[in-house]
Amino acid sequence: MKSQLRTYYCGELRASNIGEEIVLMGWCQTRRDHGGVIFVDLRDYTGIGQVVFKKEIDLASHELAESIRSEYVLAVRGQVSPREDGNVNPKLPTGEVEVLVEELEILNEAKTVPFVLDERVNVDEKLRLTYRYLDLRRSSMQHNLMLRSKAMHAIRSFLVEQKFFEIETPILTKSTPEGARDYLVPSRVNAGQFYALPQSPQLFKQLLMCSGYDRYMQIARCFRDEDLRGNRQPEFTQVDLEMSFVQPEEIYELIENLLTSLFKETIGVEVKTPFPRLTYQSAMEDYGTDSPDLRFDLKLVDLSDIAAECGLKVFSQVVEKGGIVKSICVPGGTELSRKDLDDLTSFVGNYGAKGMAWVKLNPDGWQSPIAKFFSDEHKRAVEERMEMKVGDLIVFCADTKKIVSDSLANLRQEIARRRQLIPENEFRFAWITEFPLMEYDEDAKRYTSLHHPFTMPDLEDMEKYLDSDPTKIRSIAYDVVLNGVELGGGSIRIHRQDIQSKVFELLKIGPEEAQAKFGFLLDALSYGAPPHGGIALGFDRLMMFLVNTDSIRDVIAFPKTQKASCLMTDAPSPVDTAQLDELHIRVKASVQT
Ligand code: AMO
Ligand code: AMP
Repeated sequence: MKSQLRTYYCGELRASNIGEEIVLMGWCQTRRDHGGVIFVDLRDYTGIGQVVFKKEIDLASHELAESIRSEYVLAVRGQVSPREDGNVNPKLPTGEVEVLVEELEILNEAKTVPFVLDERVNVDEKLRLTYRYLDLRRSSMQHNLMLRSKAMHAIRSFLVEQKFFEIETPILTKSTPEGARDYLVPSRVNAGQFYALPQSPQLFKQLLMCSGYDRYMQIARCFRDEDLRGNRQPEFTQVDLEMSFVQPEEIYELIENLLTSLFKETIGVEVKTPFPRLTYQSAMEDYGTDSPDLRFDLKLVDLSDIAAECGLKVFSQVVEKGGIVKSICVPGGTELSRKDLDDLTSFVGNYGAKGMAWVKLNPDGWQSPIAKFFSDEHKRAVEERMEMKVGDLIVFCADTKKIVSDSLANLRQEIARRRQLIPENEFRFAWITEFPLMEYDEDAKRYTSLHHPFTMPDLEDMEKYLDSDPTKIRSIAYDVVLNGVELGGGSIRIHRQDIQSKVFELLKIGPEEAQAKFGFLLDALSYGAPPHGGIALGFDRLMMFLVNTDSIRDVIAFPKTQKASCLMTDAPSPVDTAQLDELHIRVKASVQT
């Protein structure tokens, strides 16, 4: 046996193989001992094949098979035979056949595994992550990671076909300002100095354009030390690209084609193109978010003017102070109970809303705790604006624009979820365009880039609002959104040094700081930089859609927890004092372990 080679994968055997003498290798999924006959489900990534040990065929194998336990690694040689009538399993692709074993070799034993490797059993995620190598044996995880591999290859070949060059950029580098904290790596050779792990290859891909590479792509690992919510990981993968002499239209078309072919090739789904386009402003107005879920309606409607005139102080005062009142109409929402409404009220509380008013339109008129504050005229105005029909419910929030947007954007999603308004298996993409160039950070008391400081402003806006209100300057930046998730973002970049300096000035990045941080980029711009632009897609997020999971950890082989640690390797972990000494680092006594 030792000299024999595997001839088939476990999941490959079919009736057409009957009579063949074959060799299988794999893991024991289950062993069933029926006295004289022992059945083993032998597993590899292709599936399960049944192998049978019978005393009368080979006594030694049968005897050895008695010691097989779950997850033992086996090699078997034998003949493919039809299963006996009662034993045919139509649920398995290999269910018509079995292998009558003539020779068994136990290649390795296995301790009892800490959890059952069975898709139907729900296992605590901590345990899964601690024994990730076992978790990854499960067929759903194998499916996810193999689809990831397939997607990666599909993207690469698509882009290479489109004349992109795949170029690797450094991992030990200098900080790139993408808005998160950097992971730092101390230098041994240069005492007291640090590399930063890239938050994205942004600066390098722009430099490659300056160097004439025309179209760059990379499936790039990025590192961001940020608070890990939902679909974020501290290290993640981007499909990163950049193009010279490019217009946004070309980027939209390229990405639409890339995603269309990817969805078709990996999951056989036809994606509709072109993707609808919404300006940032209209997305914020209609949905309260720049990543709207377009699978359902429930748009936000501004009622500030009517609300300001009604007799309810909480509303009129909010409007007086520059806040807004917005509302969502829920078709058929009168059936929501008092408790449902209380639940939704505390739900919006999580986003800062101080309350949630509501109105039910019953056949006999308004039912609402605030009905008495509205005249008949105002009631009619509200019904008309909200396009309310009998049986509908409206919910309102009054507050600052930010709180109302946050609260209602999340409420919209929550109502759609509860009322099952979200169609399954639908992929609704959209482009969000014309992002503001910058926003005002109240805490830091300065302007910060919405995307990054290398984004090209709308030059007319720049002229108009530079001195009066820079937050009004739009930029040539765009996001691609899928079912309410920001899948990717990009922009046309600044390729002229004078514009770049002006933007740095607005961001209060002084000439010295700019020179120290991005001097190389500014210099490069001054040596003949072509107009250029690009985009990066979050590859992990893309995979979440392709495998249909809510957890980003299900599409990453070795992910980190919410606390950015790896339960399997125990990273991050303390290091020897000697190692620290070499790096010229002392850990504060209070945190030393
Ligand atoms: P941006 O910062 O928008 O742009 O990132 C692009 C996309 O990367 C994904 N992403 C993440 N995925 C998982 N975990 C994270 N922590 C995480 N952070 C971001 C998102 C996001 O849309 N250099 C620019 C791109 C460009 O301008 O070309 C950039 O990095 O899906
Ligand atoms: P109150 O006068 O505080 O009892 O509020 C009357 C109604 O208005 C209640 O239904 C509250 O939930 C609602 N309400 C209070 N504050 C707000 C707000 N900021 N936005 C929307 N509704 C509110």
